[in-house]
Amino acid sequence: MRVFVTGASGWIGSAVVPELLAAGHGVAGLARSDASAQALQDAGAEVVRGTLDDLDTLRGAAAASDGVVHLAFKHDVAFSGGFAEASGADRAAAEAMAGALAGTGRPFVLASGLLGLAPGRVGTERDFPEPSGSPMHGRVATARRVLDLAETGVRTSVLRLPPTVHGAGDNGFIAAYVAASRAAGLAGHVGDARWPAVHRDDAARLFVLALEKAPAGSVLHAVQDEGVQFREVAEAVGKSLELPVVDLAPEEAAAHYTWLAPLIATDSAASSAFTRAEFSWEPTGPTLLDDLVAGRYSG
Ligand SMILES: NC(=O)c1ccc[n+]([C@@H]2O[C@H](COP(=O)([O-])OP(=O)(O)OC[C@H]3O[C@@H](n4cnc5c(N)ncnc54)[C@H](OP(=O)(O)O)[C@@H]3O)[C@@H](O)[C@H]2O)c1
Repeated sequence: MRVFVTGASGWIGSAVVPELLAAGHGVAGLARSDASAQALQDAGAEVVRGTLDDLDTLRGAAAASDGVVHLAFKHDVAFSGGFAEASGADRAAAEAMAGALAGTGRPFVLASGLLGLAPGRVGTERDFPEPSGSPMHGRVATARRVLDLAETGVRTSVLRLPPTVHGAGDNGFIAAYVAASRAAGLAGHVGDARWPAVHRDDAARLFVLALEKAPAGSVLHAVQDEGVQFREVAEAVGKSLELPVVDLAPEEAAAHYTWLAPLIATDSAASSAFTRAEFSWEPTGPTLLDDLVAGRYSG
């Protein structure tokens, strides 16, 4: 297939591109800067210049492809107070690209998230929280919309990612947690919250399987660890940085971890049993605790 990939230069995209190429696909990646375009060329991909707001560019690139993997997200906007704006742009981009594939039966794979899927229990691929007024739920609404677009003759699927897609070079939530812990002089957790986790390379392999095999309207979970106790994350970080491990009340967590505090307090265990069974996907990468103990976040 010739696959159009948005976010191809990002943390997960830069692992998905080589997986696609190794599987014999051609890749055209969206790039909004010279640096991203160069990185894509170096990886062996074609470049489509444009941004998530260039809906005509996205439509054209999707129409010229045999399938789309949509990974780009305006994290810069989202994490500076513009989450609703970022998820609105994500939805418009997804609708434009999936719309360009209508009636073709070609695949459209949307990256989405697992945080807060089913607090207090282990969420599954069959769970779908009702969209609420929270800006975070804009992404849930987008995922629902993308699955509904299966009715228009697009083989849509949603691949939900754990809040930590970890590995060497990760600058995501765990890296932010380590930096905030250093600054606070403690490694905090909030009660018994759990996070699912997956290694980046395992997530990348699942994107390829979703593109190749996911039936229209599927939800997949890229989960290796169902629920790592955040206390264990704090203990590993505390040990490597020689910081005390502290069970924090939510208001104490907010003082030390600001925007990250509600995320580390959200109990979000999730399974991938249906995904593993349907796609014969078995994660093999190091676990989150392996990566922490190996010092991949404390260098
Ligand atoms: N990493 C995780 O742990 C995690 C967890 C849950 C869900 N997810 C989701 O998985 C997807 C990929 O995440 P990631 O960690 O790979 O993100 P990332 O490293 O921040 O990469 C984001 C990608 O989107 C591109 N992008 C951002 N704004 C854009 C714009 N306005 N126009 C065009 N491209 C734009 C970036 O391009 P540049 O290279 O030019 O900046 C980059 O390629 C996202 O939907 C994310 O929310 C990730």
